Amino acid sequence: MTVTAAPELDVEQLRKDFPILSQRIRGKPLVYLDNAATSQKPRSVIDAVGRFYATENANIHRGVHFLSERATLAYEAVRAGVARFLNASSSDEIVFTSGTTEAVNLVAQSWGRSAVRAGDELLVTAMEHHSNLVPWQLLAAQTGAVVRAVPISDAGELDLDAFDRLLTDRTRLLAIAHVSNALGTVNPVRALVAHARQHGLVTLVDGAQSVPHLAVDVQELNCDFFAFSGHKVYGPTGVGVLYGRAALLERMPPWQGGGDMIEAVTLEASTFAPPPARFEAGTPKIAQVIGLGAALDYVAAVGLAPIGAREDELLAYATDRVSGLDGIRLVGTARHKAAVLSFVVEGVHPHDVAAVLDDEGVAVRAGHHCAQPVMSRFGVPATVRASFAFYNTPEEIDVLIRGLGRVRTLFA
Ligand code: ALA
Repeated sequence: MTVTAAPELDVEQLRKDFPILSQRIRGKPLVYLDNAATSQKPRSVIDAVGRFYATENANIHRGVHFLSERATLAYEAVRAGVARFLNASSSDEIVFTSGTTEAVNLVAQSWGRSAVRAGDELLVTAMEHHSNLVPWQLLAAQTGAVVRAVPISDAGELDLDAFDRLLTDRTRLLAIAHVSNALGTVNPVRALVAHARQHGLVTLVDGAQSVPHLAVDVQELNCDFFAFSGHKVYGPTGVGVLYGRAALLERMPPWQGGGDMIEAVTLEASTFAPPPARFEAGTPKIAQVIGLGAALDYVAAVGLAPIGAREDELLAYATDRVSGLDGIRLVGTARHKAAVLSFVVEGVHPHDVAAVLDDEGVAVRAGHHCAQPVMSRFGVPATVRASFAFYNTPEEIDVLIRGLGRVRTLFA
């Protein structure tokens, strides 16, 4: 096998694509290390959304007028682009949602309420974001099913023996994060999905934190559902994607009713459009979808392989520098991680750490990261999280390290 090194990115040049990055915050250059919460937007995405509203805005799938037809074509072209991006076998397998959260809720309420029975078991992991946990808890409360969670090790890796033990003849679902937002762990989803499918489970992969960093091929993963959000992959907020295997989507009932998802309606009853329209009730997120299309074009032009390689270098550098500081404990030291460095400073609340860093122009997230079970597992109420994108630099990590030095001085 020939291994080709990913080409180096011209980061200085690429940073110019992101207008926000040249800002000063509190008089200091912005150091944006909160990319796992949301990434910044390149000019091409900002312009695509602005251009749509300035020259193309119309509702879609409804009008016969020129603008409506053009907007419909543009919207559906993005669906085809997303199918290519994920290597789905058809664009009919791509449903636009408001984000990962809505995508998971869609599956829980549509597939789940029609397929899950009292006593069934729904398998998640102890490192899920609340968006891939609470929808299953709601489904369990509605159906009498039980949610079980694969535990995690001190390093933040899944306990694969426990995973095996937790698979029973009542398990119906595996819902798992591809990459943990709180720990950065990259889970071995391909192997876990294959194992789960051998047991007849339906599988959902939460790709919110993986899609910005690594190439995803849903046919290779062989999962039934895959969800991601536009805003973490340099696109607009308010739009996300649910990939669903056609054979499953076709059997699933609607979960929201309204315009654009029907076949025929009388006062007594309705019949429904085939997927994906069946799951897109109401006026869609048209401008956001256009922006998502521009974001995926941007990512394709830069290249996910060099993006991932660059972020791995940044993570290795930051891990090395932070590990060298006294009184700092890393939370999440898995062997395979992506772009997330979570830590606590002994004796200082994460919010205070983040406030001192903010004073230095450094944006990090401090809190439970919508993953409270992860915090309980590690015995902390919260962590500080620095999360990287390809446009970050080692010099920015040096600013973070100097800020942490200031935290130590202030709270000594
Ligand atoms: N899920 C996002 C995060 O991890 C908001 O910060």
